[in-house]
Amino acid sequence: MQIRKSNQGFNFDKYPTFEKDIDPKQRAWIEVKGKAIETNVRELRSKLSKNCQLMAVVKADGYGHDAKVVSDYAIKGGALQLGVATLKEGIKLRSSGVTKPILILGNLYTKRDLIISFKNDLMPTISSMRECLICNNIGRYFGLKFPLHLKVDTGMSRLGFECNKFVQQFEKIKSFENITIEGIYSHLSSADEENSLNPKSSTQLQKIKFQELLKQINNIYKNHNIKIHLANSAAMLLNKDFHFHMVRVGLSMYGYSPLSKMDGNLSLKPALFLKAKVAFIRNIDKGVSVSYGGKFVSSRKTKLAVLSIGYADGVPRSLSGKIKVIHNNKLYPQVGSITMDQMMVDITDSSEIKIGTTMLLLGSDGDKVISPVDWARESNTIPWEILCSFKNRLPRVQVD
Ligand SMILES: Cc1ncc(COP(=O)(O)O)c(C=O)c1O
Repeated sequence: MQIRKSNQGFNFDKYPTFEKDIDPKQRAWIEVKGKAIETNVRELRSKLSKNCQLMAVVKADGYGHDAKVVSDYAIKGGALQLGVATLKEGIKLRSSGVTKPILILGNLYTKRDLIISFKNDLMPTISSMRECLICNNIGRYFGLKFPLHLKVDTGMSRLGFECNKFVQQFEKIKSFENITIEGIYSHLSSADEENSLNPKSSTQLQKIKFQELLKQINNIYKNHNIKIHLANSAAMLLNKDFHFHMVRVGLSMYGYSPLSKMDGNLSLKPALFLKAKVAFIRNIDKGVSVSYGGKFVSSRKTKLAVLSIGYADGVPRSLSGKIKVIHNNKLYPQVGSITMDQMMVDITDSSEIKIGTTMLLLGSDGDKVISPVDWARESNTIPWEILCSFKNRLPRVQVD
C-alpha cells in the first residue's frame, strides 16, 4: 500500500486489462471518412445518364474500408444496390441491417449455398443452366420466385454464360416460373487501359458483343424490369455508352480514378487515411545500416522514427525505401526494409516528431497527398490490390 501511494497519484488499478480496452489508435489504424463515400457517390451519380442507377461495390470488406460503413454512406449518397463477392459478405451486411438489394458477384454453385442466399434475400450471379435450374427448384420448393442476375461472358473468360449460346439458353430460362431475372450483366476486362476509347480496343469490342446480344433478346427483356449493366468505375467514366440501366462502381467511390487521364470536372475525395504511431526514436551515426539486409546505410548522422506498422498490416514490403510519410504537411522518407511490424523513417529534419506522434502513410494533409495509386505504381501492382491488402490487425476507425 505504501508503494502505491508513492506513485504521484497514478492509479495503476484503474488501468484496463481487456482487449476491448485497447485504444484503436494505439499503434496503427485506418480512418474511414464515411462522408467522402457519400460525396463521391453523389458526384458519380451526377455523371450518369438519365435513369441509370448506381450499385456500390463493397466486396472485400468495402475494399478494406469496412463494408458496413461504406454501404451506409453509399446508400445515403444514393446507391440503390450493393455488390459483394461472397455469401458471407452478403449475410454480414443483411444481419447488420442493410435492406437494399444485394448482388453476389462471385459464383455460388451448390444447392446449399444458393438456398442460404435465397433465405438471406441475396441475389446470386448465375453463369450456367445448371445453376439456373437449381434456383428454379429452390423457388418452386418455397412457392416463391428466386431473384437473380444472369451473367454473360463477353471477353473476360471468368464467370458467365457463353455469349454464343446465351440467346438459345435464354429462351428456356425465361420459361422458368420460379425465378425472377432481375438483371443481365457482363464484366469488362480492360476498361482502365489507355486505349479504351479506341473503336478496336477490347473494351469497345466487349461492349459491342454485349449490345448485339441484347438486341437478339430485346423483345424478351424489354417487357420485363430487367436491369442491364456492364460498367465498372473505368467504363462509367469513359463514356455514357457504357451506362445502360446500372453501373457497378468500386474504386471511384472510394475516391480514386482508375483512369490515368482523370476528367477535370470530376472531384473525388479519398475516404481512407492510413496512420501509425512512432513507437521509438533513435539517433545513428553516419555509415550505420538500417533494418534487415542492411540495404540502407546512413549517409549522415540520422534521426530515425520507428513507426508501428509493417507488412503484416498490409504495407507491401516491395515498397521498402520507396515511400514517404507525412507529418504536419511535411514529407519524410521511409528507409531500409519494411519489417513485419515496423518500418523506419528518416526524421532528421524534424524537431517536433516524438515518441507517440501520429504519422500519415496514405491520405492527405495540407497540400501533401499520398494515394494507393502512388503505392501501386511503386510496387508494380494496382490500387485495388493495395486497398484489399490491409489486414484486420489495423482497426478501422470511422471519422466524419
Ligand atoms: C463484377 C465486378 N463489377 C464491378 C467491379 C467494380 O470495379 P471498380 O472497382 O473498378 O469500379 C468489380 C471489381 O472488381 C467486379 O468484379
